[in-house]
Amino acid sequence: MKTIGLVTSGGDAPGMNAAIRALTRIAHSNNLEVLGFERGWEGLLTNSFRRLTPRNVGGIIQLGGTILHTSRCPEFKTEEGLNKAAETLSTDCVDGLVVIGGDGSFRGALELSSKTGALIVGVPATIDNDIYGIDETIGFDTAVNTAVSEIDKIRDTAISHERIFIVEVMGRQRGFLAVTVGITVGAEIILIPENKCKTEQVIKVLKENAKKGKKAGIIVAAEGCGKVSEIANEIEEKTGSEARLTILGYVQRGGSPTARSRFLASLFAEKAVNLLLHSQGNLAVALQKGEVNSLPLTAVCDNFKPLDLSLIRLATMLAT
Ligand code: ADP
Ligand code: F6P
Repeated sequence: MKTIGLVTSGGDAPGMNAAIRALTRIAHSNNLEVLGFERGWEGLLTNSFRRLTPRNVGGIIQLGGTILHTSRCPEFKTEEGLNKAAETLSTDCVDGLVVIGGDGSFRGALELSSKTGALIVGVPATIDNDIYGIDETIGFDTAVNTAVSEIDKIRDTAISHERIFIVEVMGRQRGFLAVTVGITVGAEIILIPENKCKTEQVIKVLKENAKKGKKAGIIVAAEGCGKVSEIANEIEEKTGSEARLTILGYVQRGGSPTARSRFLASLFAEKAVNLLLHSQGNLAVALQKGEVNSLPLTAVCDNFKPLDLSLIRLATMLAT
């Protein structure tokens, strides 16, 4: 093993830069050269890369986003795209590849390694925290903290005006971000795609709260729940309270990574380099019950990460 490639792919996540820095420095400490491919899988299709060294990855640990840029790359899903990527790996003499990204990027990694036999290790980084077999991904903690600090501000207005706020958080079709954010902001209600959202139930809870003297409220809704603006309208109609909607959007993806996201990035990087040094590929690095392990990419891609619905029951008790 002489040269490894790095790629950041899919949605950016805070801590990707910390991972690039750690991977580069750990690889160099083990006498490996590092090529950083640009713009996700696109960089492998176009053979655009820069050489990463311990010095040129300095000063990035605290930066959100990814210095290598990222993209969604539909062409990579085609036969032709995979062939181009395979050609790049052989032209550049890349002996092992690390992909830092989410489950989509891992699916791409699996396709590429099946086609070429390339040694590929996935480092999980996505704010959605929705990857099977992995307790926590790089970026999740930062996104949670960003959402919490924004919603704490919204609560000031909710309390002052005795209003109901629905705050939509990201997470694609999953509710991991919404549940964690909801519990930590003390949300009155959490709406997630894993639970069928019933507007009548929301109205019922809000009416009961009002009777108890709780007139303000925060409802944290995962984006995967669909059009929450309709719920806001119905709340206004049926409870007489003012209801407002805030979509947090991309603020959750950016910003300086928390200490936790940087720490995970550093631990995951060490594991990824060690796996490649032992010629082990087709694996994803994983945090499992506090330990840094690895599991087959096939397992990651073939399974659905369950969400612990008892957390919703906890949130309900906490909101009484
Ligand atoms: P994330 O990695 O954050 O989940 P995406 O789902 O957009 O982001 O995936 C990132 C990229 O990985 C896609 O743009 C595509 O190039 C590649 N990819 C995703 N799914 C597949 C697949 N089933 N086969 C091959 N490549 C894929
Ligand atoms: O996967 C991260 C994520 O931010 C999701 O939470 C969101 O649904 C999606 O990416 C948005 O994707 P895009 O950047 O392509 O709009």
